[in-house]
Amino acid sequence: MSMQTIQPQVKTEDFQDFFMPGYVRFGVNANLTLAEEVTKLDARKITLISDKGLEKVGVVQKVLDLLAPLDKDITTFTDISGEPSFDLLAHSIDRVRRHESDMIIGIGGGSALDVAKATAALAHEEDLSLCFSGQKSIETRNVKCILLPTTSGTGSEVTMNAIFGDEEQEVKRGLVSQSLLPDVAIVDPVLTLSCPPKVTAASGVDAFTHALESYVAERATPMTKMYAEKAMKLFAANIPKAVHNGKDLEARKQMSWVSLLAGVSLANAGVGAVHALAYPLGGKYHVEHGVANALLMPFVFEVIGQSCMEEMVEVASFLHLGDFTNHPHQAKGAVVHYLYELLETLSLPTSLSELGIQEEDLPLLAKQASKVDRLLSNTPYELTENQILKIYENAYRGQ
Ligand SMILES: NC(=O)c1ccc[n+]([C@@H]2O[C@H](COP(=O)([O-])OP(=O)(O)OC[C@H]3O[C@@H](n4cnc5c(N)ncnc54)[C@H](O)[C@@H]3O)[C@@H](O)[C@H]2O)c1
Repeated sequence: MSMQTIQPQVKTEDFQDFFMPGYVRFGVNANLTLAEEVTKLDARKITLISDKGLEKVGVVQKVLDLLAPLDKDITTFTDISGEPSFDLLAHSIDRVRRHESDMIIGIGGGSALDVAKATAALAHEEDLSLCFSGQKSIETRNVKCILLPTTSGTGSEVTMNAIFGDEEQEVKRGLVSQSLLPDVAIVDPVLTLSCPPKVTAASGVDAFTHALESYVAERATPMTKMYAEKAMKLFAANIPKAVHNGKDLEARKQMSWVSLLAGVSLANAGVGAVHALAYPLGGKYHVEHGVANALLMPFVFEVIGQSCMEEMVEVASFLHLGDFTNHPHQAKGAVVHYLYELLETLSLPTSLSELGIQEEDLPLLAKQASKVDRLLSNTPYELTENQILKIYENAYRGQ
């Protein structure tokens, strides 16, 4: 009589996968080795993607100078100013197709990097509108991609997301695919030295949001928590120095680690309600991503912190706010207080009214945020539309 083995049922969605780009090079002056990486990947024609601000401060020319000895056919796309829209992405893809580039180098903050990696992933896609609307998934990337961040914030160089504004619907939407990971990420703190204090503050707190939200996320794993924990610890020790003395290379270096580590955690555990509530502010009012996250974070955690008390105790300890092991109920208050004080210390806006948001628009914003299921379902507390509205109202008054 033969024994039949019963195979357990396997559902891939139950597994916890972990992704990183093919290769990450981190270090002071690492950007000077860009030409080596281009040679290794054997590109023929290159499009360099960046934004107008970085072109103005000379970063784009510096990259062209670094690549000049390779004698490659290089074109530039620097039409990005502000956070990118799907229309702008379509322009970028069109430019790359006409040039027939087989490599994209993206240098900039999250805005330029998102355009660069999505352009690389979609350059050979026939139906762009289906991919933009999320009805069709992004398949394999046929164009090589190298990314160099110039802000310490989004971690876009190691994430599988790229975020764009839908101008017609006044919302922001994320593309998500493994094809959005670059072949190489070169993270060089020197590139962030020219970042103005406001961008340093907003993008730095954005990185902290990635760490904190992914730490408490439903999809968090011991592996992602390890990255997020280190990011939070380094953030607390370095953000004031990086904002108040932008030339402090050691503080810039530590903030580059914060952004990278938080980005890896975000890429694999995802973020939650803070980002869900920030998207409509970006879509309708064009509030910068980092500013929106920084402002909403204390108000969102005031509500959701009660359902992740253990993590609040841990986070309070990472931030040196005290040991709340024996009175965990007080940890959330300490964390929320720290997050709110951070806004003042870093001269970031402390209320939605300060950002010109109209009070009568709050219900519409709450409706839009309540539809961002991908992020809300990753939050350890089920927020209703009414609770989201209440959070916006508190943030509107800054209380
Ligand atoms: N892909 C992801 O995983 C992810 C995650 C979070 C946010 N984002 C997206 O990233 C964007 C925000 O990116 P960001 O916060 O890095 O800002 P950003 O890229 O929009 O840049 C902000 C401003 O800072 C300037 N700047 C950047 N680096 C500079 C430098 N070194 N010196 C001088 N000026 C500099 C830019 O020219 C720009 O004017 C948003 O569109 C957001 O939705 C993406």
